[in-house]
Amino acid sequence: MKKLIVALDVNSFKKAKKLVNTLTPYVDIFKIGSELFTSCGPAVISYINGKKRKVFLDLKFHDIPNTVASSARAAARHGVFMFNIHASGGYDMMRMAQAAVKDETKRLKIKKPVVLGVTVLTSEKKKDTAKEVVRLAKLSKKACLDGVVCSAGETKRVKKACGRKFIVVNPGVRPERAAKNDQKRITTPREAVRNGADFIVVGRPITQARSPVSAAKRISEEMAA
Ligand code: C5P
Repeated sequence: MKKLIVALDVNSFKKAKKLVNTLTPYVDIFKIGSELFTSCGPAVISYINGKKRKVFLDLKFHDIPNTVASSARAAARHGVFMFNIHASGGYDMMRMAQAAVKDETKRLKIKKPVVLGVTVLTSEKKKDTAKEVVRLAKLSKKACLDGVVCSAGETKRVKKACGRKFIVVNPGVRPERAAKNDQKRITTPREAVRNGADFIVVGRPITQARSPVSAAKRISEEMAA
């Protein structure tokens, strides 16, 4: 099933709570990034879990394998639905992180989070981005990760290289109406889903909209169309 993830890129628990409370009837998964997590810590994860909604912890771990594995264990203990690590951290780092998560969740008898590799950030400009994304996706798969984060333009190539079941999450998606007057190449929710994305991440077009509910509903409709 295709899913919308709303990025809670705000700097206080109060603002995050307001968005979560407003959007809870329409949104199943909320993304907590480094800004919100650094501002208010794991309390916001508990809050969202308490609302019976899921958390994508987007902290993009990147360190020596032992440190990332321990951080991954901590993320699993918080009961997050999904979290990510930088695929450029390498095979050993990713393999150890996934093994640690499996071990920790088995020990605690809790559900294992989806562990994603971050390929190439959309803000980065590289010579041959698509090729590098596929290389990092294949490395993530080899290291037993569950999927990757990449831009919508690379989804088809990643699915072809890593298989249909390998999860693909796309940020950088803009609703159709917002995209119309923009000259940059922006992927719409419909395009992202058509390309094969399992989840799309949308932040500002929802969180900064006059009505976040209407914006979220419209994007969900575009995804389903
Ligand atoms: O507001 P906007 O929809 O642009 O937010 C996109 C979100 O996706 C941000 O939270 C950003 O940190 C995240 N992102 C990501 N990987 C990328 C690009 C954006 O996780 N390659």
